[in-house]
Amino acid sequence: MKTAIFSLLALATSSLAGPVVAESQLSPRQLESQADQLDTLLALVQTHTGNINSTTAAVQDNPSVDQQNAAAAALAPDFNAITSALTSATTLLAKRAWEDTVIFARTGGDDKDGGHGGGKDGPNKSCAKECLLVKIELLVWEIACTIKLVIIKLGLACVLQILTPLLLALVGLIKALDKVVLGLVIVVKALLHTILGTVAGALLALIIW
Ligand SMILES: *[C@@H]1O[C@H](CO)[C@@H](O)[C@H](O)[C@H]1NC(C)=O
Ligand SMILES: *[C@@H]1O[C@H](CO)[C@@H](O)[C@H](O)[C@H]1NC(C)=O
Repeated sequence: MKTAIFSLLALATSSLAGPVVAESQLSPRQLESQADQLDTLLALVQTHTGNINSTTAAVQDNPSVDQQNAAAAALAPDFNAITSALTSATTLLAKRAWEDTVIFARTGGDDKDGGHGGGKDGPNKSCAKECLLVKIELLVWEIACTIKLVIIKLGLACVLQILTPLLLALVGLIKALDKVVLGLVIVVKALLHTILGTVAGALLALIIW
């Protein structure tokens, strides 16, 4: 009888252990989880930029207007997928960024969440702000260089309608992350102008920073 109660208790404890531990580790790992999300986002973006690159490479040089429009239509699903990925990442990361601020401000004061104490010496800062910046720059490079490749091959006119929401979504993400990585907007603005300035000035002019 006693054994039965014990094993029942063990079962209950083990089924609880998972979620409880995961939750208590969430707060000190905020920055890292943002880094993870950026990794996931970059991987997703790369599958689409990969498709975009091969679709673009398959278009013959100096395409006619019809060929440009056909290529733009073929590219649209991948560009739109990037746009939605950026938009949902913004919603998620903006929320996290806000939680970050609250959490770090709080642990600086009282030791409210001492529950996970055992052996932990503060938040895991293996991917702190500099590391986030590098990941964000990689993401911006990947997107901007792919856009540049497409514009050089097809011209801006046929893809302007597809690229405008994409660029606005990218800027939205950067603005949300600027709360975590101060000065990010300035860095990315310069990066976009460096990569796209000569080929997509008209596109960049649409952005209100
Ligand atoms: C697509 O092409 C651009 C421009 O050459 C490059 O920067 C980017 O890394 C490429 N992406 C993939 C996934 O091949
Ligand atoms: C922090 O995270 C990194 C990478 O995920 C890991 O290698 C390292 O062991 C972690 N450090 C601590 C103290 O948890």
